[in-house]
Amino acid sequence: MTHSSDPLAQSDEFKQIIDLVSREALAYLEGLDTRLVRQPGANESVERFVAPLPEEGAGALRALETLLADGLQGTVTSAGPRFFHWVIGGSTPASLGADWITSVLDQNNGGWDATPLATKLEMISIDWLKDLFALPPEWTGILTTGATMANFTALAAARQWWSEQHGVDIADQGFHGLPAPEVMSSGWIHSSARKALGMLGLGRSAVQVFATDEIGTLDLAAMEAALQALNGAPAIIVGNAGEVNAGHFEPIGALADLADRYNAWLHVDGAFGLFARISPDHAHLAAGIERADSVIADGHKWLNVPYDNGFAFVRDGSWLPKAFSAVADYLPDPNEERPTYIYLGPEMSRRARSFTVWATLRAYGRAGYRSMVERNLSLAQLLAGMVDNHPDFERLAEVPLNIVCFRYRPAGVTDDQADRLNERLGEAILMDGRVYAGTTIWDGKVALRPAIVNWRTTERDIQLLMEVVSELADGLPRD
Ligand SMILES: Cc1ncc(COP(=O)(O)O)c(C=O)c1O
Repeated sequence: MTHSSDPLAQSDEFKQIIDLVSREALAYLEGLDTRLVRQPGANESVERFVAPLPEEGAGALRALETLLADGLQGTVTSAGPRFFHWVIGGSTPASLGADWITSVLDQNNGGWDATPLATKLEMISIDWLKDLFALPPEWTGILTTGATMANFTALAAARQWWSEQHGVDIADQGFHGLPAPEVMSSGWIHSSARKALGMLGLGRSAVQVFATDEIGTLDLAAMEAALQALNGAPAIIVGNAGEVNAGHFEPIGALADLADRYNAWLHVDGAFGLFARISPDHAHLAAGIERADSVIADGHKWLNVPYDNGFAFVRDGSWLPKAFSAVADYLPDPNEERPTYIYLGPEMSRRARSFTVWATLRAYGRAGYRSMVERNLSLAQLLAGMVDNHPDFERLAEVPLNIVCFRYRPAGVTDDQADRLNERLGEAILMDGRVYAGTTIWDGKVALRPAIVNWRTTERDIQLLMEVVSELADGLPRD
């Protein structure tokens, strides 16, 4: 490395870099409402970056100019209002600003010694989130990288409880002496919860699924019979508040009754569904979550903070340090009164995710989030109405929340033909790029499932979604 490539020799470039980034960022943000969600040639454009490791550095400014000039074509405008694929929120202005500050300050939110500010703001953010979601104030919470790791964190607490019911401290001693775990859910269990169960050694496929139909609707009676048959042995129930294909909810109160009646830990995946509790007209969908043992949600979905951000809440917080303790002489005293987050979750070094959460809640408050969530909910109803009024489209499910599950089904087309048409339609929408929505399988049928979670989305975007989808559907070749 030559002297000029050394970052120390380039440290006076910060001003130019900040100027470049803020200028380009503003231009990008100002174009978000009209920018194509997917740029033509996006797949090929990223090949421009393929190169051997440079021996000599190009300099910070050149590197960032290249990243922006050559890179933007390969990005997807998921921060904008017309991205309806998966479940992806944007970034509110306050959270975006806070995210930049997070990087500038570069705090390691492991605990008080490393950062009093980020630690305090995580404590406050967790308290505010519990208030926003009407969760009991005495619960413990932690910010995570997203809902997958939040599921992992809460299910690690559940696993710890389960193992100690059998007289084994699993985090310390491993599985030795333990029976096969009893984990129960419906067919709506999200792949991330299965992934978390796999990472915890509980088994992705070992989940017992109790469903009354092909959609996966919970069979409460069958789950109860299975719990009864355990004769008091402990089990973990995974409840689903906001199923990913159509936004449906399980009766969480009834699951809480089962957990009370038998010996079970009730965990609820509310990655986006927990936000129903912000809207008085929709809170009943997620009623009973306050009786669960743990619940999780995502920040980078409906809170609209930048990636990555999620939260896990646990009724009895003492299970978290049992699952996640890490002992070293140079680390903080685990018995400190203030939370030391490295003992409450999987990571040791942690990004200060509390800055974005605190800033967005400080900026918009309960009222701002209620407006945003309720706007998205009305837009989902608007879209459902458009689908219902279109002779060539068929809605496949009720729309309790923010996802509209439907398919293209023109007259005279069989189910098999409709599947092929909808597969092609999904691909055509993603390639077209004006709006973005992909396919899933619902009740054995290939379906579209736009999810509305972005704070910027308006009626105009929903109209465009329907216009583009019908235009592309009309142009599909028939077989
Ligand atoms: C219900 C549910 N749980 C968990 C997840 C996983 O979230 P993440 O991608 O933030 O890890 C998702 C993502 O869509 C989800 O919809």
